[in-house]
Amino acid sequence: MRVTISVIKADIGGYVGHSESHPDIISCARDYLVDAKKTKLLIDYYVTKCGDDLQLIMTHQRGEEDEKIHRLAWDTFVEGTKLAKKLKLHGAGQDLLADSFSGNIKGMGPGVAEMEFEEREAETILIFMADKTSAGSWNMPLYKMFADPFNTIGLVIAPNMHAGYSFEVHDVKEHKKILFHAPDELYDMLVFLGAPSRYVVKAIYHRETKNIGAVSSTQKLSLIAGKYVGKDDPVCIVRCQGEFPAVGEALEPFASPILVEGWMRGSHMGPLMPVSVADSTPSRFDGPPRVVALGFQLAEGRLVGPRDMFDDKAFNLARHQANEMADLMRRHGPFEPHRLPLDEMEYTTLPGVMKKLSKRFEPLE
Ligand code: 13P
Ligand code: 13P
Ligand code: MG
Ligand code: MG
Repeated sequence: MRVTISVIKADIGGYVGHSESHPDIISCARDYLVDAKKTKLLIDYYVTKCGDDLQLIMTHQRGEEDEKIHRLAWDTFVEGTKLAKKLKLHGAGQDLLADSFSGNIKGMGPGVAEMEFEEREAETILIFMADKTSAGSWNMPLYKMFADPFNTIGLVIAPNMHAGYSFEVHDVKEHKKILFHAPDELYDMLVFLGAPSRYVVKAIYHRETKNIGAVSSTQKLSLIAGKYVGKDDPVCIVRCQGEFPAVGEALEPFASPILVEGWMRGSHMGPLMPVSVADSTPSRFDGPPRVVALGFQLAEGRLVGPRDMFDDKAFNLARHQANEMADLMRRHGPFEPHRLPLDEMEYTTLPGVMKKLSKRFEPLE
């Protein structure tokens, strides 16, 4: 049977500050989606949070970019925003950048990752969700999962993975896309993947079967709003086992924390710390950035789960290392490389300061 999984998320209000989602907002979203399941618009749903981002995980049979599904998500966020305003949560409706729904939620602020596929005999799915970081932060983890044999031994020893994967990469500034074939084009591909503020892995396909293996949200809030309103806090869906990486191979990149952009006011680099949903509460300097992973088995579209995958002692060392890295970065205060480079700061107050002082800059002798 063909199933579509849609993960649509938005920050519609933080509790307290940008550190968490209020439990009443999560209940409100659940109450909203329960009707959609009753009327069979959805097969199933799971509502959760990552930090201050509300996450709607939905399964249905309507395909990607379906107007009814997108409207359902939008209406859920609008309803939640009303409650967020009543509770006077911080930044109520932060990511809703349009006044009314116009057919497709893409480009309206929320992040969207969707994939349609033929459900396998055992359909193992991981949903990765991050807070205090930007679209593009999945580039290195996805590269490791689907192209690096030091991470994914299946690329070497599993006959159904050995031919490799194709990566669809988006240039989010020029609105262009390109398909790279791994492993043949790894070196060309890394030229772009290594610049995640502009080039973002959108989707990954099995080269022989052409089946979809991963999809991520690529919406950049600052590019939509034209100013800084909050961070993208992206999501990513990864299919596992069989012709795709094993669950352990898909989780393994997060055991070695990397630096990503998006910490404090969206303007700092910091370590991406793998945590349980309960620990996705970025409080130190509004961070450090977090990633959570929920695992499901699909049964005719029904979401069997979740298992909270980083709620495992094996990630304790990664968390410890991330906290050490956080200290190291914090030591730099307002200096790069903790603070983002100038071109990434163009949506903050910085250009205003530059403009104000421009006349005082005199030519050097
Ligand atoms: P099991 O024998 O526990 O199913 O594990 C198989 C495997 O390959 C895990 O990586
Ligand atoms: P969010 O994008 O998670 O709302 O974070 C905003 C921020 O700037 C926190 O310092
Ligand atoms: Mg927020
Ligand atoms: Mg957030």
